[in-house]
Amino acid sequence: MSGLEGVIAAETELSMVDGEHGELIIAGFPVAELAPNAEFEETAHLLCYRSLELNGFAADLARRRSLPPETLDLLAAAAARRVDTMDALRMGAASIGAAAVDDEDARNLLALFPTIVAAYWRLLQGRTPIAPRADLGHAANYLYMLFGEVPSPARVRGLQTYLNTVVDHGLNASTFAARVIASTGSDFVSAITGAIGALKGPLHGGAPGPALDMVFEIGELSRAEEVLRRKIESGERLMGFGHRVYKVRDPRADVLATAAEAMLGPGNALYDLARGVEAVALRLLEEYKPGRRLQTNVEFYTALVLHGLGLEVPLFTPTFAISRVAGWIAHCFEQRRANRIIRPQSVYRGPRGLRWPSPATQPAR
Ligand SMILES: CC(C)(COP(=O)(O)OP(=O)(O)OC[C@H]1O[C@@H](n2cnc3c(N)ncnc32)[C@H](O)[C@@H]1OP(=O)(O)O)[C@@H](O)C(=O)NCCC(=O)NCCS
Repeated sequence: MSGLEGVIAAETELSMVDGEHGELIIAGFPVAELAPNAEFEETAHLLCYRSLELNGFAADLARRRSLPPETLDLLAAAAARRVDTMDALRMGAASIGAAAVDDEDARNLLALFPTIVAAYWRLLQGRTPIAPRADLGHAANYLYMLFGEVPSPARVRGLQTYLNTVVDHGLNASTFAARVIASTGSDFVSAITGAIGALKGPLHGGAPGPALDMVFEIGELSRAEEVLRRKIESGERLMGFGHRVYKVRDPRADVLATAAEAMLGPGNALYDLARGVEAVALRLLEEYKPGRRLQTNVEFYTALVLHGLGLEVPLFTPTFAISRVAGWIAHCFEQRRANRIIRPQSVYRGPRGLRWPSPATQPAR
C-alpha cells in the first residue's frame, strides 16, 4: 500500500477512472461526450451543484472576476521577485480571504483563478494586467485577459474542451488534499490553497512542458526513430507516455488530440509531427518495454492544445488549476455533505522505551 495504492478513501459521484478499460466518466458523462460539448461553466455547475440548470451561475461568476486591490498588490510584489507562477496562484488564492459561507468561497475561487493567473502573467512580462470583461464566458475571458484580444470561437472551444477534460480525475493527490482539509471543518479557501500546493509537485501537476520539448527536439519526423531510440536506450523516459492508473490509452489523450486538430486546422505541421512522433514512440515502447502497456497519456496532447492556444510553458500548470479548481470545490462540497474527519492511522516502526540522557552522558551540543 505504498502511496496508498489501491486504498479506497472516499465515495464519490463526481468522476470514475477505470484504468484497465481506459474509461473516464465525469458526473455521469463519458469524457468524450462532455468535454467537446459543454461550456466550462456548465461543467463546473454540474460538478458542484449536480444540475445543468445554471440559474444565473455564469453571470454570477462573471460579476466576481475583479481582483481585490490587495491581491493585485501582492501579485505585483511577487512578480518583482520573479516568483514561480504556481506559487503566485497559491498566494493570490490565499489572499482573497474566506467568507463565512462555503458557496461564496466556491464562487469567488472559481471566478478569480483565471484573473489571478492572467494578471500575474502580464505583471511578470512587465505589462499592465487587463481587467476582466463580464460579457465574455469564463474561458474566453481568460484568453482575453492574457492576450488583450477577444479570442476566436475555435480557440475558445479548444480551451473549454481542455478545461472540461481535466476538471476531475478520481482521488488524485490535490483532490485528496482538498478533501482532507475540508474534512477538518476548515474553509474552502484553505482547502483550495492546500490543493494548489499539491498540484504544483512535478509528480502530479504533470510535465506537459517536457513532452512538448521532446517534440520540438525531434523537429522532423524522419529523426523521430533515431532520437527516441537514443532516449530509451540511455534510460530516459519518453515524456507523455505511461500512467500509473491507465494501462490502455488514456481517454483524455484522444479528446485532446481531436481538440488540437480542430483548433490548429488541417495540415498543421506541429500537429502532424506530434501524431507521427506518438506512433513511433508507441512502437518503440512496445519493442523495448514489452508487456509494460505504456500508452500515450494526457500530457502529450495537453502540451499541443495549450501551445496551440499561445500559452507559454509556465502557464501550463496554472491553466490546469483553472480547470481542476472546479473539481476540488465539488469534492469539498461532497465531503461536507457526509463529513467525517479524514484521519487515517500509521504503524509505528520506531524505537521504544528510550531514557532521556542524563547531563553527564549528553553529547556535546
Ligand atoms: C507516469 C509514470 C510516472 C507512471 O509510472 P509507474 O506507474 O510508476 O511506472 P513504472 O515507473 O513502474 O514503470 C514501469 C516500466 O515502464 C518503463 N516506463 C514507464 N514509463 C516510461 C516512459 N514514459 N518511457 C519509457 N519507459 C517508461 C519504466 O522504465 C519501467 O521499465 P522497467 O520495468 O524496465 O524498469 C511513468 O510512466 C513516467 O515517468 N512517464 C513519463 C512522464 C509523464 O509523461 N508524466 C505525466 C503522467 S500523466
